[in-house]
Amino acid sequence: MTESKKTMLSAVAPSNRLTVGNYIGALRNWVKLQDQYDCWFFSVNLHAITVRQDPTELLEQTYRAVACYIAAGIDPKKATLFIQSQVPQHAELAWVLNCFTYMGELSRMTQYKDKSLKQGQNIPAGLFNYPVLMAADILLYQTALVPVGEDQKQHVEITRDIALRMNNLYGKDLFRIPEAYIPPVGARIMSLQNPLAKMSKSDPDPNGAVYLTDTNDQILKKVKRAVTDSGTEITYEETKPGINNLLTIQAAITGKTIPEIVNSYIGKQYGHLKVDTANLLVETLGPIRDKTDELMKDRSYLLQVLEDGAERARERAGQTLKEVYRRIGLV
Ligand code: AMP
Ligand code: TRP
Repeated sequence: MTESKKTMLSAVAPSNRLTVGNYIGALRNWVKLQDQYDCWFFSVNLHAITVRQDPTELLEQTYRAVACYIAAGIDPKKATLFIQSQVPQHAELAWVLNCFTYMGELSRMTQYKDKSLKQGQNIPAGLFNYPVLMAADILLYQTALVPVGEDQKQHVEITRDIALRMNNLYGKDLFRIPEAYIPPVGARIMSLQNPLAKMSKSDPDPNGAVYLTDTNDQILKKVKRAVTDSGTEITYEETKPGINNLLTIQAAITGKTIPEIVNSYIGKQYGHLKVDTANLLVETLGPIRDKTDELMKDRSYLLQVLEDGAERARERAGQTLKEVYRRIGLV
């Protein structure tokens, strides 16, 4: 946490339990990179309410997300961990940025297009403005690196556009221009039931996603039931999205290359690949699940970490917000 380290920041929306997609696309990379950066990780509950949430469940998932970060290997002594709604500067800067963001650019966001389709007639304005709040999250901390999965790349790009626009108007040093870090393998883990769609926390099919809360038995069952094609040979190719997904999960977790893994399956069948992937996930996720449960039980420790984190976050975010107000001419 020295001043000389660049800032890395990322977050997950506590709209449901986290999935292995969140783990491979995001969390794992935060853990890998944490020593090289001054780290800020949080639970974005203000983003979660862009779709309806049950209040009790939302509270629970908000804490659970941070417990998962720690269980996955984030060191709470080094990283600042906090909850978005406890740092009012996020909502305040988001309003300002809303005035410098165009409807046209927001309407091009793929995630908005996908999510708004599921909302029927009444699309909350918050869903449309979601990327602006994310830009505020990032820019408040003068962030250099944002490690996220593929689906968030567009949101980091719009953040850069907004920051450049404001820097051109109010001074080049107002905001640091952030970069996305997208992992080379595992940036888009697919649903186990529909390997052409992203694995999502809110998948209506409970067998599509492996959740970080799943029991070993649930993990084994879900992976063994993963949808594949009718072929037999284990190869990585466009016509085999289900097989590709399992190979990708293995590659991301073990650090082996896809060709290496494919080679080890010569002469074997889909069943072997499924069983091995299932076991690998049980080995990897089991300890994270158990540690998360422990942290959720010892709520006072978690609350203390979050209290300290929110204080540091308010301090850092406050500096940027103050400067923005000053340059714009807000009293
Ligand atoms: P979300 O679930 O949308 O809050 O995403 C939190 C983080 O996990 C973001 O960095 C996403 O890009 C990443 N993520 C979510 N789903 C996946 C997935 N299926 N594969 C890879 N990364 C994902
Ligand atoms: N929009 C991100 C997602 O759904 C979550 C998020 C909110 C985020 N604010 C952020 C990620 C800031 C990185 C940095 O995955």
